[in-house]
Amino acid sequence: MSTLTLTINKQDYQLENLDARTTLLDVCRQNLQITGPKKGCDHGQCGACTMLINGRRVNSCLTLAVMHDGDDITTIEGIGMPESLSALQQAFKDNDAFQCGYCTPGQICSATALIEEVKQNWPSHVSTDLQNPDGLLVQEIAERMSGNICRCSAYPNIIKAISQVLESQVSDSQILESSIQAADNTVQNSSVTGIWSPPPSEAQLGKTSANNKTATTTTGGRS
Ligand code: FES
Ligand code: FES
Repeated sequence: MSTLTLTINKQDYQLENLDARTTLLDVCRQNLQITGPKKGCDHGQCGACTMLINGRRVNSCLTLAVMHDGDDITTIEGIGMPESLSALQQAFKDNDAFQCGYCTPGQICSATALIEEVKQNWPSHVSTDLQNPDGLLVQEIAERMSGNICRCSAYPNIIKAISQVLESQVSDSQILESSIQAADNTVQNSSVTGIWSPPPSEAQLGKTSANNKTATTTTGGRS
């Protein structure tokens, strides 16, 4: 007889003789009646089943329960309940960031991990500066959330809710430090301009051509 122990939302669950082919999503929903995580596609395409495993977001429809003995698993129920909403859950509510709500548990689990990733300065696929990704940009948030589909298309309000929490939780000093480093890098490496840098004005171009080459390299083309 084999026993699997899953730690979900800080509670231990013992499962005897579980079919090794059972996904974590099915164990939660069918064996443990933890129904916050939703089954949308069951193929890793929609993100409705997102859970946090050891702090990282995972599509629970694509991972087997037996692989997670001893892991720290968090579902939407562990993030907050109606009487104790997390800041992000409250922001989703305040910003009307859902319609049917089916995708919402996965969106909130994913966004909870996203906030930690931004705090740790992790770059995303669209970060133009890998050393100083600007996680507060709408395009960054959209890309980081691209694994979570909302068929009601509540995207504008989802991004609004996440931005609101990011702005309040990513400390001013972190933003300031990141901006200073970004400015330094721009001066030191004129090729790192980024798609969000405004193009130089005609006046700047005129001034640049009037200056010598050393001055052009030093100013770096972006201010
Ligand atoms: S149900 Fe898991 S990604 Fe869609
Ligand atoms: S709120 Fe309906 S799928 Fe997102």
